[in-house]
Amino acid sequence: MLHLKSADLTKQKMDALAIPVCEDKDIHVDPVIKAVIKKALQLEEFSGKKDEGVTLYDLPEIKTRRAVLIGLGRLENLDLETLRSMTGKAVKAGIKNELTNLWFALPAVKKLELEPSEAITAMLEGAYLGNHLFQKYKSDKKKKALRQINFVTERQAVGKFRRLCSKAATVCEGTCLAREWISTPSNDKTPEKFKRSIVNLAKKQRLKVQVINETQLKQKKFGALLAVAAGSQSKPSMVLLEHKVPGAKKTVAFVGKGVTFDSGGLNIKTGGSMGDMKSDMSGAAAVAATLITAARLKTKVNLIGAIPIVENMPSGRAIRPGDIIRSYAGKTVEIGNTDAEGRLILIDAMAYTIKRYKPMMMVDLATLTGACVVALGDKIAGVFSNDTKLAASIAASGEKTHERCWPMPLPDDYKELLKSDFADLNNMPSSRYGGAVTAALFLAEFVEDTRWAHIDIAGPAYHKKENAYCGPGGSGFGVRLLMDLLERI
Ligand code: BES
Ligand code: ZN
Ligand code: ZN
Repeated sequence: MLHLKSADLTKQKMDALAIPVCEDKDIHVDPVIKAVIKKALQLEEFSGKKDEGVTLYDLPEIKTRRAVLIGLGRLENLDLETLRSMTGKAVKAGIKNELTNLWFALPAVKKLELEPSEAITAMLEGAYLGNHLFQKYKSDKKKKALRQINFVTERQAVGKFRRLCSKAATVCEGTCLAREWISTPSNDKTPEKFKRSIVNLAKKQRLKVQVINETQLKQKKFGALLAVAAGSQSKPSMVLLEHKVPGAKKTVAFVGKGVTFDSGGLNIKTGGSMGDMKSDMSGAAAVAATLITAARLKTKVNLIGAIPIVENMPSGRAIRPGDIIRSYAGKTVEIGNTDAEGRLILIDAMAYTIKRYKPMMMVDLATLTGACVVALGDKIAGVFSNDTKLAASIAASGEKTHERCWPMPLPDDYKELLKSDFADLNNMPSSRYGGAVTAALFLAEFVEDTRWAHIDIAGPAYHKKENAYCGPGGSGFGVRLLMDLLERI
């Protein structure tokens, strides 16, 4: 679908040609493009300001019927996200206008004040991600994704940057896989179904796959995970994916919260807050999709994906507030609130992962707390870590991929908020304040001395409304982030 090509624009047939334009500097080298831009700038309605656009029809200079000029603003302010959004929006407009192909005139990267491969990757990503549609449940599949998106550049650049195209496509395919899983409704994504879907796709990529089923979870004493699963008709499981690289020394573990629906349990959520809880497996989706992507790209790090999968439901068999359970690590937990279920499944998954694989580093992704959304809004994730370097690497990956992550504290003196009168810990903090922090501190009790980071993605995992390169629904947040992180360690 994505291609990097050189082409003679005077002869090449295209549905539309999109030309990004800076308001203060010329960023193209092709004389044909320059001539078209000059024409557009003579119009009063277009000067290249950010998000401005104008369509010119039937230009004699080029073969296409439509040239769409898109403003990028001033060159000194141009960043990767502006480029990513620009291609995303152009693709979405192309879909709306029922085009089958779209061509972009790639700016001459040497004229941009950005790292060339990063700038090109950002444009490729926006285009690929903007072309993703989730219409599985619509009888009338009105929109059609573009069949081909081409980036036109000089011949020398094509060879130099070709591998970026296939890499960006593979990573974004992973993001879209996570999006599809997240947007799938919970009736079609029971723990059994979700597990099967992950296992099938992982096997196709030759990942090593192991499923710990309910009986084995009982034998192995995954008490916290089983407690959350108790109210559901559907059986829980723990999926372990392994990407093994011969000779690789480092092993990194990713853990993802996989609650296929979070009703809250007996501490049931109210209508509004339950509405989007099909997305409470977004951490699991991101981890599974990252392992699949790493396998496709033959990433040179040993990876473990640990994915606890449950549904949190009220019923006669559900755990009750006040119950005390024994976790896999042996610590007891009083259930102060059945809606604080994510931390329960994560502590068992993390303790098991540490014991079995002894990873040099572990990162968990979870839609863990509404408090994190209150703190950082719905576009930025919170990062909590016992290793400032790891937190900084995650923040840097967040900056580059625009899957933004903001460092948050793990203060020792807040630990007392997790005390229980009867058990080792309470899953419900005694204060309403700092809920994202106390949730992370709860997890920290189970990571021993492993280098670890927790990313609370409750905000950015799911969008109610579409944006530049994502439709409404799952965002796939985490896949591009983790793939980038793997290049920094
Ligand atoms: N899945 C929710 C957190 C969540 C909220 C995710 C909003 C996405 C959007 C989590 O299991 C939860 O219910 N957390 C409680 C914790 C509380 C009971 C300590 C919360 O945030 O209110
Ligand atoms: Zn909950
Ligand atoms: Zn939850």
